[in-house]
Amino acid sequence: MTTATIGATTDAASRARELREEIRRHDHLYHVLDAPEISDAAFDRLMRELRAIEDARPDLVAPDSPTQRVGGALADGFSEVAHRRPMLSLGNAFDVDELKAWHTRTLEMLETDSFDMVCELKYDGLAVALTYEGGVFTRGATRGNGSVGEDVTANLRTIKSVPLRLMGDPADLPDVLEVRGEVYFPKSKFEEFNAARSAEGLPTYVNPRNTAAGSLRQIDPAMTAQRPLDIFAYSVGYHEGGDLPDTQWETLNYLSGLGFKVNTQYNKHFSDLGDVIAWYEESLAILESLDYGCDGLVVKVDRFDYQRHLGNVGREPRWAIAYKFPAEQATTRLLDVGFNVGRTGTINPYAVLEPVYVGGANVKQATLHNEDYIRSKKLLKGAKVIVERAGEVIPQVVRVVGGRTGCHEEEIHFPHICPSCAEPVTRREGEAMSYCTNASCPAQLVRRLEHFVSRGAMDIEGLGIKQVQAFVDAKLLRDVADIYAILPNRRNKLLAMERMAEKSVSNLITAINESRSRGLTRVLVALGIELVGVEVASALARRFGDMRTLKQASVDDLVAINAIGPKIAESVHGFFQQTSNSKIVDKLENTGVVMTEETEDEEDGATPLTDPEGKPLRFVVTGRLENYSRSAIQDRIKQLGGAVSGSLSKRTNYLIAGKGGGSKRTDAEKLEVEVVEVSTKEQFDAEIKTLVDKWNSESESPVQETLTQSSAAS
Ligand code: IVH
Repeated sequence: MTTATIGATTDAASRARELREEIRRHDHLYHVLDAPEISDAAFDRLMRELRAIEDARPDLVAPDSPTQRVGGALADGFSEVAHRRPMLSLGNAFDVDELKAWHTRTLEMLETDSFDMVCELKYDGLAVALTYEGGVFTRGATRGNGSVGEDVTANLRTIKSVPLRLMGDPADLPDVLEVRGEVYFPKSKFEEFNAARSAEGLPTYVNPRNTAAGSLRQIDPAMTAQRPLDIFAYSVGYHEGGDLPDTQWETLNYLSGLGFKVNTQYNKHFSDLGDVIAWYEESLAILESLDYGCDGLVVKVDRFDYQRHLGNVGREPRWAIAYKFPAEQATTRLLDVGFNVGRTGTINPYAVLEPVYVGGANVKQATLHNEDYIRSKKLLKGAKVIVERAGEVIPQVVRVVGGRTGCHEEEIHFPHICPSCAEPVTRREGEAMSYCTNASCPAQLVRRLEHFVSRGAMDIEGLGIKQVQAFVDAKLLRDVADIYAILPNRRNKLLAMERMAEKSVSNLITAINESRSRGLTRVLVALGIELVGVEVASALARRFGDMRTLKQASVDDLVAINAIGPKIAESVHGFFQQTSNSKIVDKLENTGVVMTEETEDEEDGATPLTDPEGKPLRFVVTGRLENYSRSAIQDRIKQLGGAVSGSLSKRTNYLIAGKGGGSKRTDAEKLEVEVVEVSTKEQFDAEIKTLVDKWNSESESPVQETLTQSSAAS
């Protein structure tokens, strides 16, 4: 290489670096601080110059370059990301007394007479988690169900207020930093955006929140890039390395210093509850003027040591509360009352309303809860009523507006027979709800079937709501067990049905047959037993190991399990006591549905995928297995006491690598994480067994040691 080329190389490289830094600074001034220093034209010139250099020298393009906000489209859907710390939800205070009660409880738990609070607005958007490794944005995920979200990295990169590289001294940055915040669609742009869509003949969005959600889930990031999404950062979810603040208030400043958009104008710091209440009153007056939707204040305990001490109840932290703004109300007319039948047989009345825009959506229906509710509100068909809607809450009918409406008003009759199957409706003593108790009531059957085949249950692909309804109508399905007892044997009948070609019938039958081996946890979830979700189901499966033993368990046997209280125990026991249910379970078993699962180690409740200190081994899963879904793999690892995360770090113990799944393998090698190559379920099971054996034989003596040490220390 000649000296001249070396000169040109360094020049181009250093100019590109200079430009990137300059552009980053202006992006931050414009999109985060709302204080631009240069004109749009001058900014464009900088971008054009950088693009020209990068076009000529592709080797200089870095993923965190401002030119790289819009990348390639996703091939097929979004992959799952397991959050390293759950993304929590919030308890609500609907009035000042509930807020005071929270404050008093918190004082008591902290055994103090005052604590500092941070008040933030509660943005009506979507929570996301942004991960930075070595200061560079590497992954962005939606909240999802709080434990697992979707990987929307490419779409989040297009949001200009999401830094692609953190500001500040690289030496001080944590190795890994996961920042959380709320993505929103500015109100001012919403009308414009919908107008443009309807001009193009596209369906319009109901409110800015749904639009933000829809925008983040675009398969093509170029589409997301056209939407003016924005974000407020409000917390750190997880970090490795780095020296992080000890309070929420300092964290907000810290995040701002890293280049995030933080709501400096309306984040407040108080120690007196009176000041919080005064700020709430004041904030009601500014809501209209904000360019983002808010449905309350989030009041957080400032000190993190206090937060840790307070902990969570389920998914809700005790250290924070959403002090809700009053729900928006509107007046409309109650046109009619309809009744539907819930999966558990409840008769649910709902109001059919003259459509009205309230709380950011067009409302046509509202819940009426039960018969007593209708009576206590003195509702009449044709009456003028006030409806209310707040955030994601189902619209409510608050009351009848006094005076005659001039319209014909008519009494509401609660049905005595089930609107679906015409069997009598019963209302149990002391209960507000009325029930249809007919186990084969078609309304319940369709819903029960839908639940049974759904993703978190038996996960039968190709058996969607339409097919379920069609099979019920064709009398192919009379109960959930018929999925196995009837469908696979009626190929010709299926082929004769609408939209069922050879291939879809074969696929469906394969999917049904495969689902037989999901195991006891999934069967228990699928049965839709009241109060039994995946956690309870998994605890039951681990303890009893097979359906027969579980069916015979007494209420006492059931409450003896950690995760199970008396109500759940009653519900589970009651379920199996009912003959019709017991018959269905037997029928399922006779059709070859697997009703067993490996039990936990009974002696000490130890879970085998843990390290010698009893901490979960950390897994990351990539690629595909031929006959085992990603979520099933994750379930299995968690069942065995391991932890599953979406991204690799130095602390990851194993990368389970199926077919495909590119970059994670190389990352694993770099981080010296052991890669376990598998391509089928059988291989996976065998490898896991090897790991269990390995760690259990290794763990014996170290566990002993740790125990002795800790008892000596105490
Ligand atoms: S903190 C403590 N701060 O509210 C756990 N959340 O109901 C909550 N939200 O999923 C996270 N504004 O989407 C926090 N200033 C704020 C928020 C906020 C809106 C949302 C967030 C979360 C939901 C919980």
